[in-house]
Amino acid sequence: MSSKNLEQLFRETAARLATSSCPFVEARLLIKAAGKMDEAEFFRRMSEPVKPSLERKLNQLVRKRLSGWPVAYLLGRREFWGLPFRVNRSVLIPRPETELVVEKALSLPLPPEPLILDLGTGSGNIAISLGKELPAARIIATDISLRALKLAGENARLNQLTNIRFIQSNLFKAFEQSKLSFDLIVSNPPYVAQDDWPELDRPVKDFEPQKALIAGRDGLKFIRQLVRKASTFLKPGGFLIIEIGAGQAAEVTGWLESDWSEIEVLPDYSGFPRVVSARRVSR
Ligand SMILES: C[S@@+](CC[C@H](N)C(=O)[O-])C[C@H]1O[C@@H](n2cnc3c(N)ncnc32)[C@H](O)[C@@H]1O
Repeated sequence: MSSKNLEQLFRETAARLATSSCPFVEARLLIKAAGKMDEAEFFRRMSEPVKPSLERKLNQLVRKRLSGWPVAYLLGRREFWGLPFRVNRSVLIPRPETELVVEKALSLPLPPEPLILDLGTGSGNIAISLGKELPAARIIATDISLRALKLAGENARLNQLTNIRFIQSNLFKAFEQSKLSFDLIVSNPPYVAQDDWPELDRPVKDFEPQKALIAGRDGLKFIRQLVRKASTFLKPGGFLIIEIGAGQAAEVTGWLESDWSEIEVLPDYSGFPRVVSARRVSR
């Protein structure tokens, strides 16, 4: 047994993590993960001596954190829309700004039992949040990555949802022979330009999946195809919501002219245009 208690270890860990933006928060999260403790246990055990096994496990986590690993991958989880999600390096870590896609979807006049498609579901964060909020909805969530779909399926079970089907598909490919048409299509597609990759933050480019982020030379490869094909897979009067990158709003809304109405661009919490929403005209 080590001679230090949990409080001393906590302070020492926060000091080691001093270069991160929230050293005390991260120290608490990593100690809880290393010791498999919940919040209450963490505070209750403050004056108890620390087991060497906890200290060893914590050391590994802190070393990884100091080498740049995102906290969410170290913990294997991240909260989104107030719900727990497992994450690993096969999926993008869900971002707070993507909650805008969910918020916008919930504000729409959808039918009582809407059929919803989530393209590029990753951890399943958008589909699962909608599945929780709209229990009568039927949701299909797709991704090109089987690993992502496996994790998204686990996240649906973690959140006790049974109204979502997960299907592997390259964009709309899996639906080309089907007669399915949706009330709502949502997507947070890859939208980073190949040339902007070197400018991304180190934790993003060193740890998150490139395939979840990069979309050709101009970053618009997926959104262009999504917009081009979406109206074929939407009911008349159906809605499309897409997360977009910085500087993409004008071009994306420009493509939404003839078949579309109610075109809106929504800013994120920092004021940047982040989400485009539109309605397929009813004819
Ligand atoms: C930006 S991530 C978004 C993940 C998740 N929806 C979120 O909001 O965190 C884009 C996702 O699209 C998937 N993807 C990439 N290319 C695709 C394609 N051609 N067809 C379908 N999904 C694709 C990636 O595997 C990744 O999971």
